Amino acid sequence: MNIIVTGASRGIGYELAKLFAADPKNKVVAISRNRLKLEHLKRECRGGAVFPAVVDFSNKDFKRDITLQVLSHISTVDILINNAAVLVNKPFEDMVAAEVENMFRVNVTSQFEFLQALLPYMGKGQVPTHIVNISSMGGLQGSMKFPGLSAYSASKAALATLTECLAEEFKDKNISVNCLMLGAVQTEMFEEAFPGERTEMTPLLMAAYIRDFALTGANFFNGKIIPVSKSTP
Ligand SMILES: NC(=O)c1ccc[n+]([C@@H]2O[C@H](COP(=O)([O-])OP(=O)(O)OC[C@H]3O[C@@H](n4cnc5c(N)ncnc54)[C@H](OP(=O)(O)O)[C@@H]3O)[C@@H](O)[C@H]2O)c1
Repeated sequence: MNIIVTGASRGIGYELAKLFAADPKNKVVAISRNRLKLEHLKRECRGGAVFPAVVDFSNKDFKRDITLQVLSHISTVDILINNAAVLVNKPFEDMVAAEVENMFRVNVTSQFEFLQALLPYMGKGQVPTHIVNISSMGGLQGSMKFPGLSAYSASKAALATLTECLAEEFKDKNISVNCLMLGAVQTEMFEEAFPGERTEMTPLLMAAYIRDFALTGANFFNGKIIPVSKSTP
């Protein structure tokens, strides 16, 4: 299978890329801004088909990098894990426009250009291409909210709604789109959001769940927003 994982330089995406690369039938394009970390990931995968792709979703001209860095390695896309995201933890009144715009650009609006570039390579296999958007419980309507995360949570809610819309638009293209709303996972992002707090959920455990869902979930779900959290929302 040809698989793209965004945000693969650390945290959940890093573990996810490793898990996919452990299957010799897979080619994994691993995206982040940091070539050194992606090369480290490739070394860790020892022989797995991992292709580092340096793309900055906050750069308005990133579409050119998709052609050069992503589509040069694969001719079709079977699974896309939209996992890259940025989080700024600040009281609402201190948040500056540039931070809000960048969070929405990386977490949501870049998806428009990214998917437009990839669409011609999707839905070409026997099974539907599965797009899995990684969102957050904070973006789920009615869930518990936390101070400092207004823009981040709003961007994650937008990603969830985008999922439902894309599932409708892509339903005749042999493409399924689902959204996982993750609860807390012990990563650097979690430490930025909740300094000093701990959670039992490791990036590897969550990555294993996302891998399994990406492989089989399109048989059961399309356009679904699915909470992945043990705590009550
Ligand atoms: N950890 C949690 O508790 C939690 C809870 C709910 C949802 N989530 C979601 O799960 C996903 C993974 O989270 P995580 O905790 O693993 O985060 P993380 O450790 O902060 O990793 C974020 C990844 O996104 C990449 N990224 C950030 N800005 C980028 C940009 N402009 N262009 C390209 N790549 C960029 C980073 O790579 P570079 O910096 O190398 O570019 C990094 O690989 C995110 O979507 C997050 O919102 C996490």
